[in-house]
Amino acid sequence: MTVADVRDLFDMTGRVVVITGGAGLLGRRHASAVARAGALPGLVDIREDLALEAAAELSREFGCDCSGVPADITSEPSVRAMLDTVLQRYGRVDVLINNAANNPTIGQSGAQVEWTRLENFPLATWDRDIAVGLTGAFLCSQVVGSELARRRRGVIINIASDLAVIAPDQRLYARPDREPLAQPVKPVTYSVVKTALIGLTRYLATYWADSGVRANALSPGGVFDGQPEEFVAKLATRIPLGRMADAGEYEGAILFLASDASSYMTGTNLVIDGGRSAW
Ligand SMILES: NC(=O)c1ccc[n+]([C@@H]2O[C@H](COP(=O)([O-])OP(=O)(O)OC[C@H]3O[C@@H](n4cnc5c(N)ncnc54)[C@H](O)[C@@H]3O)[C@@H](O)[C@H]2O)c1
Repeated sequence: MTVADVRDLFDMTGRVVVITGGAGLLGRRHASAVARAGALPGLVDIREDLALEAAAELSREFGCDCSGVPADITSEPSVRAMLDTVLQRYGRVDVLINNAANNPTIGQSGAQVEWTRLENFPLATWDRDIAVGLTGAFLCSQVVGSELARRRRGVIINIASDLAVIAPDQRLYARPDREPLAQPVKPVTYSVVKTALIGLTRYLATYWADSGVRANALSPGGVFDGQPEEFVAKLATRIPLGRMADAGEYEGAILFLASDASSYMTGTNLVIDGGRSAW
């Protein structure tokens, strides 16, 4: 295989990549990864201002036609309108990255802590988190995936988490000044949404296997984004590579999963967590 053949494997020239939550921390990096390989990213986000701003930045940086597409992925009409917008602009869609999720902040102040705990977790928060992380991924897969299947070619990537394969270690969030029932915790919905996405991935992969659509999950470990020093140090001791990820460290995996380099891969979960789940 020559250098040119290797480049061809990862070449995304002219391919349209729809990224939900595209204006967020990792969404922009997924877009950079595929834009560098020649793709046209559509950043779908409920935050229209941020999506347009990020799209303009990426277009400038990579000289690509990147667009911001405002949509609420929990609403079926909004998801259908999003696909229409993408098809009107580019005439095709090749890749869907289901990346949007509510990333629950671990409560630090009194009342917030109380409501993140399982005993008190509000049904409304459960419904909201499931709606974005899971129902949103289902709706986008249904609507965009049907278009991919109709064209008999395409890729779906579901962004899960290391917490799709291990339980949250609640000791990471423990505060010595608090009673057991007042300790901050990672909320239950995060584990449930991320684990369910692995099931959705297997379902989509086998359902559309003979329609030319591949579906895989990517399970990233925690990204350093200015979290408190004490938390970062504690988490580092549970990661064989001894640190959190940089936001750009998933770009190679996204390009691999989105391109023909992964042509024989479907229905699986690529775990990139600094080795955390190996311990
Ligand atoms: N950051 C991490 O450490 C980390 C680690 C593992 C997995 N992940 C996963 O990676 C993905 C991206 O994480 P991130 O850190 O970039 O999150 P983020 O919060 O920065 O971005 C999420 C984006 O989703 C958008 N969004 C929320 N609700 C929406 C809706 N209804 N419709 C459309 N867009 C909506 C938000 O506006 C936001 O721009 C998430 O699925 C997250 O769970 C993140």
